[in-house]
Amino acid sequence: MKKIIWSVFSTVFFSFGLPADSLPIPPLLEGGNLEMEIREGMLTLPFGTSRTLGFNGDYLGPTIRVSEGDDIAFTIINTLREDTTVHWHGLHVPAEYDGGPRQVIKAGEAWKPRITIDQPAATLWYHPHLMGKTAEHVYRGLAGMFIIDDDYSRSLSLPRDYGVNDIPLILQDRDIDRSGRFAYRPSMPDIMHGYLGNRLLVNGAHEPELRLEKGTYRFRILNGSNSSVFRISFSDQSEFTVFASDGGFLPRSVRTSQLVISPGERYEILYDFTEEGTGGLTVETWGGAVFDRALSFSVGSGTGSFYGHPESLVYAPVSPEADHIRRNFTMETGMMGRFTINGKSMDMGRIDFRLEKDTDEVWTVVNVPAGMMAVPHSFHVHDVQFSVLSLNGEPPPPLLGGPKDTILLWPGDRYEIGLSFRDYTGIYMYHCHMLEHEDAGMMGQFEIEEKYTP
Ligand code: C2O
Ligand code: CU
Ligand code: CU
Repeated sequence: MKKIIWSVFSTVFFSFGLPADSLPIPPLLEGGNLEMEIREGMLTLPFGTSRTLGFNGDYLGPTIRVSEGDDIAFTIINTLREDTTVHWHGLHVPAEYDGGPRQVIKAGEAWKPRITIDQPAATLWYHPHLMGKTAEHVYRGLAGMFIIDDDYSRSLSLPRDYGVNDIPLILQDRDIDRSGRFAYRPSMPDIMHGYLGNRLLVNGAHEPELRLEKGTYRFRILNGSNSSVFRISFSDQSEFTVFASDGGFLPRSVRTSQLVISPGERYEILYDFTEEGTGGLTVETWGGAVFDRALSFSVGSGTGSFYGHPESLVYAPVSPEADHIRRNFTMETGMMGRFTINGKSMDMGRIDFRLEKDTDEVWTVVNVPAGMMAVPHSFHVHDVQFSVLSLNGEPPPPLLGGPKDTILLWPGDRYEIGLSFRDYTGIYMYHCHMLEHEDAGMMGQFEIEEKYTP
């Protein structure tokens, strides 16, 4: 196994000692007709007030909760003075409703995608994807969770009471400047290494507190940062159970005391709070920051419900058909902020490759380190959940054994992934989910055609 070297120059950000705010829980948005308004807002943190963007509020957005089989009619109103988009990250969806850079919602206009939920239970998310502007729009606050339930997930004995014992955690670092605000102003090194922060927000709050009872809690963790790779642990280094990744349940759950999560990825974990008292969640970044109490827990004397931790869950991995097509993707960091996949920067006018609907493919994805420019990348594909077939020639580690839409590549890493393109046709994206890299060109487009003859 390859050793991951975390920066030796760590900066520890200790808590302020101010009375903590309680953890904000994004409201649920449910039903067949879902309306969201993209707005300008203000976010007040202990340091100052920043100008932000949000869905139906000042910062972040509601948690959309749907069930497999639902038909959802969305109305998304862009009240901003600029264009944006709303992309459903992880959702299997017709290209015209994908919300990528080709589905622009102009300033002052509305977008009305109609989406049939056709995939198993998972924790997905949504965020803008405007060409060259994704990083800024997400940084300013446009992101939210998207939960899918299905009959199987409802039949399991797992915590499912949203905001009570089923807790969304959207982790984002932000660079608070001397005036106490954050704004999106990356320099060239920020684009190279990603726009890294000096403070960590959880659901848009700084070092909030979660008050609990003794019992088993489910956390749905999203790395919603622009470019920071996080390593998450409980402050006392105790173990927890990871039972789901990007696209749903892991076939075998994993007991661990730490979890590495790159931008765009999700994991679901279970943790038992057995004693009254306080604790916390520590988040370290690959950039060398240590947030020792990103979230604190205060466990009261009451007792809620304890749940068993599942060992194995149902998930049918994508095993490509024998006649699958193979493709290679090399992610390269060049000089002067040039980020490429297969030597090319994103061009909206170019389709990088075409494939036929209802076919399987195996993709080899490599992070080619170029001397000083050895940085991690996070590879994401629209429309599908894929299976990791191998990592550096070995079978995937258990954490990568489930459905994935985003994978972290340390310099030199080589993945083989199996993808199955079903049902829909049209143009989709693949890209680095480090948003600075994406906006700097590390993205491409593929088109799924009804019938394709090379
Ligand atoms: Cu989460 Cu193409 O994005
Ligand atoms: Cu996506
Ligand atoms: Cu990248």
